[in-house]
Amino acid sequence: MKWAALVGGYGSNLEAMLEYGNPISLVVSHKANVRALEVAQKFGIPSKTLLPKSFATRQAYDQALLNLLNDEGIEALALAGYLRWLDSSTVNYYLGRAINLHPALLPAFPGLNAIEQAFDYGVFWTGVTVHFVDNGHDTGPIIAQAAVPRYREDTVDDLRMRIHYHEHQLYPRIVDAVDLGLVALEGNQVIWKESKSWINGQY
Ligand code: GRF
Repeated sequence: MKWAALVGGYGSNLEAMLEYGNPISLVVSHKANVRALEVAQKFGIPSKTLLPKSFATRQAYDQALLNLLNDEGIEALALAGYLRWLDSSTVNYYLGRAINLHPALLPAFPGLNAIEQAFDYGVFWTGVTVHFVDNGHDTGPIIAQAAVPRYREDTVDDLRMRIHYHEHQLYPRIVDAVDLGLVALEGNQVIWKESKSWINGQY
């Protein structure tokens, strides 16, 4: 399938996907001047920035996004640091073909700053979740999770680095699995057609 990566930040997961060889043919950012756009350029992937403030409504923004994705023949979406909720028109169009990466063990700590939320809560374990995108906020059916320990002596940056390590291992493998049809969304259920040791963080 032809994938677009939706980004908005540092782009370390975009980099991990491109290094792994995921078939990403377009990068869309909701922010200008972010490192993720430099990553796209480094790998020679076309990119486009769609700034929310250029659109009057979320619907107008997502209509422009959908038009762009359609024009480029994009069949699947990998969200990586895209800090916007997709409009239901986009979610429904890409249902089962849009995935998101979240830096916590959902349903714990949804939303922004999940690593800090978990750290401040004092959890001993947190992690990484990859899920299909649905119309809720970080609620979609879970495809894979990696548990990540938080050690007593950790700073929040130590924990962040450990979480990013797992994201970079897990996300490209899941993009690949969705791409190859090894995992699919059937109704509300995630069906793995082939068992993989790394779907719970054993790489
Ligand atoms: C990741 O931690 C991801 O889980 C969250 O946003 C962050 C993106 O990081 N959704 P990067 O831009 O890929 O470095």
